[in-house]
Amino acid sequence: MFMNLRDREPGRDAAVRGGGPVEVKLAHERLAMHGESDPGLAPIPVGPTVEAIDLGHEFVAGHRLFDHRSFILRTNALYAVTGPSGSGKSTLLSILAGWLTPTLGRVIRRGVDPVRWVFQNPHGVPRRSTLDHVAVGFIAQGYRRAEADRAARDLLERFSLGQAADSPFAALSGGEAQRVMLARGLASNPGLLLVDEPTAQLDRSAADEVNRTLVSLIGSNIIVVVATHDLQTRQACTHVIDLAEPSTPSPDSDRPRHGYPNEFEELGSSAEAVPPSHSDPKPTPPQGRS
Ligand SMILES: Nc1ncnc2c1ncn2[C@@H]1O[C@H](COP(=O)(O)OP(=O)(O)OP(=O)(O)O)[C@@H](O)[C@H]1O
Ligand SMILES: [Mg+2]
Repeated sequence: MFMNLRDREPGRDAAVRGGGPVEVKLAHERLAMHGESDPGLAPIPVGPTVEAIDLGHEFVAGHRLFDHRSFILRTNALYAVTGPSGSGKSTLLSILAGWLTPTLGRVIRRGVDPVRWVFQNPHGVPRRSTLDHVAVGFIAQGYRRAEADRAARDLLERFSLGQAADSPFAALSGGEAQRVMLARGLASNPGLLLVDEPTAQLDRSAADEVNRTLVSLIGSNIIVVVATHDLQTRQACTHVIDLAEPSTPSPDSDRPRHGYPNEFEELGSSAEAVPPSHSDPKPTPPQGRS
């Protein structure tokens, strides 16, 4: 029998009147203690989130890369970060990951550890098998070798890479190697997956396959953010954070809000432009792992 790898609480809604999710939860619990609830309050999701509050960054004083960015990232979406070269896409990913402290504003991450990053250039060990590259993520979680191999093979199948499982990494095409990197990222059970320019080095058809793989991640319990120049990748995403767009200061930057007018361009059904070729790429390792 198989179980889902990520067993976080799904995007459960909680009632709240003002305040961020922490206050929301406390208010909710307080009401529950008295056997009460308040159905009139606006629901907000309490699943994994990354909240950016009036975010801005400059490496050189006075040279602002971007500023006043406020948004909330959730699961069940695919976020594109777009903008010209040098506009700060990779910088924004680093800030969302918590690896770089923004010079303005702040980021609140809830339930998203571990964070994984998939680089533009797929780096692997040339003579190691594809399977090894993915199994290592499961082993790092404490799986026994045989279990890790099984889970990795299953994940590679879902990414249409089953036939390449025993090939050395060096034998993979660029698109295959990039998809192996995505699979490796997933194998470590991330809450937040940051993908930097995944199609930049690929021809159109390999890029389309990578885009399909990215779309197939929608619905997994993972927040996925993709920095990209690729119009097709952008169109495959459900939301866009465009660093080329001017931003406006938030009226209240002191505390987290919910339901704010996100800076996203909501692309609605555009994810259907690149239909997923696989149903659920979420790894499904065996129960009773050690
Ligand atoms: N550690 C750093 N110290 C100083 N400047 C930096 C640092 N990292 C990035 N920069 C500068 O910040 C700017 C934004 O860089 P970033 O890599 O985030 O852009 P990008 O939008 O990802 O570009 P590309 O599309 O080329 O990948 C660039 O001018 C870059 O030189
Ligand atoms: Mg970059």
